[in-house]
Order: sequence, then C-alpha cells, then structure tokens
Amino acid sequence: MDPKDADASRFAGEALSRGEPTGWFEPLYAAASGGSAVVPWDLEAPHGLLPGWGRDVDGSGRSALVVGCGYGRDAEYLASLGFRTTAFDISETAIRDARARHAGSTVDYVTADLLDPPAAWIGGFDLVMESITVQSMPLSLRAEATERVSAMVAPGGELLVISGIRAEGDEVDGPPWPLTRSEIDAFATGGLQPKRIEQEPLPANPDVRSWLATFTR
Ligand SMILES: C[S@@+](CC[C@H](N)C(=O)[O-])C[C@H]1O[C@@H](n2cnc3c(N)ncnc32)[C@H](O)[C@@H]1O
Repeated sequence: MDPKDADASRFAGEALSRGEPTGWFEPLYAAASGGSAVVPWDLEAPHGLLPGWGRDVDGSGRSALVVGCGYGRDAEYLASLGFRTTAFDISETAIRDARARHAGSTVDYVTADLLDPPAAWIGGFDLVMESITVQSMPLSLRAEATERVSAMVAPGGELLVISGIRAEGDEVDGPPWPLTRSEIDAFATGGLQPKRIEQEPLPANPDVRSWLATFTR
C-alpha cells in the first residue's frame, strides 16, 4: 500500500466494521487537521483530466455543483472558468479547511450529504461534477449515490463524471471501489443522455486511465 493511503485505509476499515460506510471521512479530515493523518487526495491541482475538459469551457452565467469537494481543488478550477460554484462535502472539517485554504474564493462551500441533499438542489445546477466521490462509497450505496448525483442536473444542464475504472465482475476490496462501464452508464437516469464516455490517460501518468463521462439533460 502507498504510505499516503495508510490513514484513510485505517479510518475506513474502522468505520466499515461499525457499519458506517461514510463514517470515515470526518475522522480522517479531523486527524489531518490536527497533523496526525494524511488525506491521500490532498492535492493543490485539480484532477488531471479536468483542465482538458475545461479547455474551451466558459462558465459565465452558469451554476455548478461539486459533489464531495474535499479541500476544493476542482471547485476552485470551475470557479476560475466563471461558474457560480457551490461545493459540498459530508465532512464539516473538510468544508471548514476548504474555506480557510481558499479565503476570498467565490465558491460557496457547504456541509451536506449526497445521500440526503437539500431539496432545493434537485434539478438545480447547470453543471454537476462528481470526481472520485461515488467510488469512495461501498457498492451497497452505488445505485443511490448515482441517482442522487444525476438528480441535481438542471434541465439543459450537464453532468461530468471522473472516476477510476473497474472491469465488470471484478471483486474489489475498497476503498476505493472504482466504477464499471455499466455503473458509468447508470448516471443516464431521469432524462440524462450520455454525451461522451471515454477512458482517458492521465496527463501526469499516461499508463493510467480514468473514466471521463459527460451527460446532458
Ligand atoms: C476520494 S475523496 C475526493 C475529494 C475530491 N473530490 C477530490 O478529488 O479532491 C471523496 C470525498 O467525498 C466526500 N464524501 C463521501 N461521501 C459523501 C457523501 N455521502 N456526501 C458528501 N460528500 C461525501 C468525502 O468526505 C471526500 O471528501
């Protein structure tokens, strides 16, 4: 195991054995805030596939929602494209630290649970972005998490999904639990249509590929 994954793996194991599949994020962020743990996805740059997607995108006049934003790296990138950006995470500490890291940011950072989102968010955003958050939840939550992500796209809006890749039928001992092609296809629900579904090489490590999928409503 990569040493930077050790703390996440330990907190996840404890929470999963308590029957709390999303119960490890807050303890991990709290420990990291106190200097006693490492958050493996604590990176300054946006996800490696995001700048390629955003190259010709002008978000002016449009709203965006970032699901499971962590410390806000992707939310800040979308805001830099002009999107009026809301970003949420289940961890209060992540949201507090994201606000502190990006003082003066235009992003609205909110603590919320994807599995119980504010009613006003349903159908509420021109762009919804989910990057490696659904894959951080066990397979038992996949169908519900997927449906909730898609439900927040406004009529005429777009969904962007970035995720690790898993072959159909492969057993996986997560976290993470990367997505199969059929799990990517499942975002096309409630009137969403697939626009682009590709396995893209990561610019920093072209031997590794991730899903980059977009859907429109
Ligand atoms: C693997 S991390 C990725 C964070 C961020 N997307 C990034 O790439 O930097 C998954 C994030 O999703 C958040 N998360 C997990 N389950 C969630 C839920 N049910 N609702 C909201 N956020 C959740 C976690 O707290 C964590 O910050």
